[in-house]
Amino acid sequence: MSDSELFLCLLPSILALLLIFILVQRKQTRLNLPPGNMGWPFLGETFGYLKPYSATSIGEFMENHISRYGKIYKSNLFGEPTIVSADAGFNRFIIQNEGRLFECSYPRSIGGILGKWSMLVLVGDMHRDMRTISLKFLNHARLRTHLLREAEKNTLLVLSSWKDNSVFSAQDEAKKFTFNLMAKHIMSMDPGMAETEQLKKEYITFMKGVVSAPVNLPGTAYRRALQSRSTVLKFIERKMEERMRKMEEVIEKKAEEDDLLGWVLKHSNLSPEQILDLILSLLFAGHETSAVSISLAIYFLQDSPTVLHQLREEHLAIARAKKQSGEMELNWDDYKSMEFTHCVINETLRLGNVVRFLHRKAINDVRYKGYDIPCGWKVLPVISAVHLDSSVFEEPHQFNPWRWQQNGNVKGNTSTSNHFMPFGGGLRLCAGSELAKVEMAVFIHHLVLNFQWGLADKDQAMAFPFVEFPKGLPIKVQHQKLV
Ligand code: HEM
Repeated sequence: MSDSELFLCLLPSILALLLIFILVQRKQTRLNLPPGNMGWPFLGETFGYLKPYSATSIGEFMENHISRYGKIYKSNLFGEPTIVSADAGFNRFIIQNEGRLFECSYPRSIGGILGKWSMLVLVGDMHRDMRTISLKFLNHARLRTHLLREAEKNTLLVLSSWKDNSVFSAQDEAKKFTFNLMAKHIMSMDPGMAETEQLKKEYITFMKGVVSAPVNLPGTAYRRALQSRSTVLKFIERKMEERMRKMEEVIEKKAEEDDLLGWVLKHSNLSPEQILDLILSLLFAGHETSAVSISLAIYFLQDSPTVLHQLREEHLAIARAKKQSGEMELNWDDYKSMEFTHCVINETLRLGNVVRFLHRKAINDVRYKGYDIPCGWKVLPVISAVHLDSSVFEEPHQFNPWRWQQNGNVKGNTSTSNHFMPFGGGLRLCAGSELAKVEMAVFIHHLVLNFQWGLADKDQAMAFPFVEFPKGLPIKVQHQKLV
């Protein structure tokens, strides 16, 4: 076919695209969209947005955009027209209108890797059903008994391997702790067993792909993660079949009640495929986030001697009282009594911002404070931008847990819950928020009572935008016996 014939063939498609472009442009010029820059065709401003920056800041890209356009601006990110919000009021509005005006909309690559039944990508009734199951599994009674006890057991297991003056990655240790805890509670897998270690290894490859560019070509992290996904799924499937066999034989009457796998097999109507994606998404949601939060606490505390001193005093008092009463294990009342620790946890989550923004899209044309947000546009409420906003929090870049003794000391006396959202909110509020706090509190308890530590090499948390310490947070520890 000659060039001119090819051109004639393509002409109708080119004209149609041009027409659509003109119509969209016309419609958009009639709308009062927030100011902003749509960047390059297709790529938009994605690369600038994803450029790594310190996790305790909002990054140069966002700072520049806010100073040029204000806290609500338009852009083109991940190949889609997008409204970015660093505005506390608008973020709350988006979160509160889930299912009515906005809906969860994570990039397709996340669905490809976590599965179409993953809670992060589901919307509507199916999301509600999966959420109900997760909440039942993570309920208060289980937290008070099983989860708290297991969190302590797994903390002690990790800490008991720390040798004086050795240098190791605190981030890897935190990941070991949260992975072991989730594997135990999801599938009754014990730490150190060959199958647990095998799953952990496979899962690390899988995680690298979840946070990589979604390029499905040989050799890419994304392709390797898709392969890992099927290995992990086969593994979980084997566990599921094994469990079903045992349940039929009524051998494992106790264990079936004790973990998520047994619970969903017994109490839900989920298909095997749905169960697999649910388990995978809970492992994903409940493992990295908590581990990075613990690493952030370790990092902030080594740099804040006065905070560490007050924290030690609180935990010493708890440990002494337990010793006197002859009790060994932490209980729910101990956890609740850790008042200053809760301030430290809040401050770690506020300043460290493990989850920086949420992925949403407008499912109706929306008007907010004079701006039009067209139906179908992506909307990113950036929760970290509010946590680090000096018009909301006094000296937002300071690690100051005492601010939480006055409920965060939010300016203008407004409610903290409008401004502090490390776990998201509304219908999609993190299902594991209390478990995450229990894990942090228990880990901190044994850490400050038994160790002194310092950085063995300079490192800092970076937002890629997922948060991680690039060098793994290398620390050097010494034992101390305070009680
Ligand atoms: C400090 C640690 C954690 C942080 C900062 C965190 C943060 C978040 C955030 C911001 C969301 C909302 C996502 C959205 O709206 O799009 C979320 C959802 C979720 N998180 Fe967490 N999370 C943490 C730990 C955990 C743990 C330990 C679990 C337990 C398994 C967990 C399970 C979930 C689940 C299942 C969802 C989906 C909820 C839904 O869609 O209804 N998270 N988390």
